[in-house]
Amino acid sequence: MIRKCLFPVAGYGTRFLPATKSMPKEMLPIVNKPLVQYGVEEAVEAGLDNVTFVTGRGKRAIADHFDISYELEHQIAGTSKEQYLEGIRYLINNVNFSFTRQNNMLGLGHAILTGEPLIGDEAFGVVLADDLCVGGEHDGVLAQMVKLYKQFRCSIVAIQEVPEDEVHKYGVIAGESMMEGLYRVTDMVEKPAKEDAPSNLAIIGRYILTPDIFDKIRETPPGANGEVQITDAILRQAQEGCVLAYKFKGRRFDCGSVDGFVEATNFVYENIYKAS
Ligand code: G1P
Repeated sequence: MIRKCLFPVAGYGTRFLPATKSMPKEMLPIVNKPLVQYGVEEAVEAGLDNVTFVTGRGKRAIADHFDISYELEHQIAGTSKEQYLEGIRYLINNVNFSFTRQNNMLGLGHAILTGEPLIGDEAFGVVLADDLCVGGEHDGVLAQMVKLYKQFRCSIVAIQEVPEDEVHKYGVIAGESMMEGLYRVTDMVEKPAKEDAPSNLAIIGRYILTPDIFDKIRETPPGANGEVQITDAILRQAQEGCVLAYKFKGRRFDCGSVDGFVEATNFVYENIYKAS
């Protein structure tokens, strides 16, 4: 079964400067929890309790966050403040974290390939922490995808409909409908112009990938923005075998943009934080 989840977290977060000058963008809080912790919790909920970070320079705070802080533990032991650490303690005690570094920013495909030694020859999840997903009354998005993987045993990308004038921000798929909300991918284009987009079904940052993806990435030349794109490598899988695109149930916030970040903050505050 799927046990491992890869988090590419080497990106700079320039849109949030100066906040991200000396702090990883993944550590920006949505209310009281860093963005990346939401992603890790979603992975764990889906049963993926081996979490691999592909990090880069200036990202050490992520490794520290997912480790015990003895000073802090000592300070607050026996006080009412201990409750604030319950969630993160659970992760530290139940997840196996590993880290590797991407020392050149050559694209998302390259970041995923950098994680190969820690993933090995098995299917795995990928979470782009910038995309905060909430399942609401449904399972988390990765858990929904793991269920599908059990049935179909192939790579799966999460998709959502976006307005036509936003397709240029995403990888966009074309597909044959298999059943409600599920497509067999026939084409994929990374960041197409509106007139070149094969649909308005955009890939969001949740993937399940079979391990042949690593060879496909190696065969993939740089594409959009001169970067090795995971979208191009997955298209090769789709052309030679089968890749599914899944219109997930729930909501997604683009926390890589200031607007999406603020929207996520308001949503989490009203619907999750206040209710807890
Ligand atoms: C990446 C992927 C893109 C996907 C997007 C989802 O782009 O390359 O295919 O649609 O994530 O957030 P990025 O946002 O890193 O530019």
